[in-house]
Amino acid sequence: MNEAPVITLDGPSATGKGTVAGLVAQRLGFHRLDSGALYRALALAARQRGIDLEDGAALAALSARLAARFEANGQTWLDGEDASLAIRTPEAGQWASRIATLAEVREALLPRQRAFRCAPGLVAEGRDMGTVVFPDAECKIFLDASAAVRAERRWRQLLEKGLDARLPDLLQDLQSRDSRDMQRGIAPLRPARQAIRIDTSHLPVESVVEKVLERAMQVIDVGLGNSACD
Ligand code: C5P
Repeated sequence: MNEAPVITLDGPSATGKGTVAGLVAQRLGFHRLDSGALYRALALAARQRGIDLEDGAALAALSARLAARFEANGQTWLDGEDASLAIRTPEAGQWASRIATLAEVREALLPRQRAFRCAPGLVAEGRDMGTVVFPDAECKIFLDASAAVRAERRWRQLLEKGLDARLPDLLQDLQSRDSRDMQRGIAPLRPARQAIRIDTSHLPVESVVEKVLERAMQVIDVGLGNSACD
């Protein structure tokens, strides 16, 4: 059976992965996986239940019964409640990055992420999409940008959502998460060997989208995947 094609977008926080993934998925009519939202939702659910964020076994068990739903417009539902804003706070990002260091958690979330691979194709964004979750992806992209640009982008995004934030705090938050993500022993943040690297610091979003689509068209037979999800 042909697996549906996958475009992976990996990179540090606030490099524009979410926006680019959304636009590329829209242009190709592909499904989309925001794996960071999954880690954030699991971390938030654990906090709400008083589960220790170091307890890998309890977190893995929670992930198996986690009632989380992710909509194409970015809305996230947790236990029937709209958690779209709650998962986006810097605190939820820090909790997510702590549980993301645990092997049991990463292992437990693998099937959930792979289940997003459906015809006609998937755009998957995160830290280990091209290296671990979809190592056979046809098109692998690694996005990067300077820390100052990324902190300012995140600051604007949070303000637009009505969340309060200070730029220096955000810069520190991004840098601490990036260093934890890059230094962890399991599935550390790094470009896949075949990944095309794009520095988005001074590129408008549309140019990044065009570069990704150009690469995708070179390597993907759009429309060939036949592994439809139910
Ligand atoms: O992408 P986002 O910033 O929402 O991800 C939140 C955190 O989840 C990251 O800092 C990272 O620690 C973790 N994560 C991960 N692997 C992924 C996606 C996210 O470890 N594929």
